[in-house]
Amino acid sequence: MSAGAAEMDTAGLRLKDLVATQALAQRLAPLLRRGDVLALGGDLGAGKTTFAQFLLQALGVEGDITSPTFTLVQVYETARFPVYHFDWYRLKAPQEVEEIGFDEACAEGVAVVEWPEKAAAYLPRDSLSLRFFLDQDGAHRVRIEATGQWVHRLEEMPNADGS
Ligand SMILES: Nc1ncnc2c1ncn2[C@@H]1O[C@H](COP(=O)(O)OP(=O)(O)OP(=O)(O)O)[C@@H](O)[C@H]1O
Ligand SMILES: [Mg+2]
Repeated sequence: MSAGAAEMDTAGLRLKDLVATQALAQRLAPLLRRGDVLALGGDLGAGKTTFAQFLLQALGVEGDITSPTFTLVQVYETARFPVYHFDWYRLKAPQEVEEIGFDEACAEGVAVVEWPEKAAAYLPRDSLSLRFFLDQDGAHRVRIEATGQWVHRLEEMPNADGS
């Protein structure tokens, strides 16, 4: 992630179409390991579920990947770890994340969380935050906010051209 990193800090990375979102998911997928939490934050309709779907596909999940809007969580087996796809939008209270198995998900696999803002206090400190938003022109964008271990781990991310 060398080139473009500085730009991403300010305006975010432009995801000009679904292919661009898929490409980002494909670059991030190989870096993931058990215990990781990806917080997919940001505006309504900004592209969180879309990114999660491409990420699961990149991890080898075949078939339908439905939004966990109503179920709050969907679990997928992959070759490397289970992935727990959460949507916290409909949580009635932040502590409900305990009832839907967030701790177990973090222990057993990778947790991908839409609407992390709804229970932010439950996110581990070393979550990777991807904040999706629409810019003034209606273009989809994402700002990747890496702290702690993720600063170094993202350096392992392949460049957009695959190098
Ligand atoms: N990079 C992109 N380029 C063009 N359209 C996109 C892109 N990413 C997502 N979309 C489209 O935007 C719409 C909303 O996407 P999505 O459902 O992923 O958003 P969301 O952030 O999960 O929304 P919600 O807040 O309801 O959970 C969908 O029609 C999707 O196809
Ligand atoms: Mg969604």
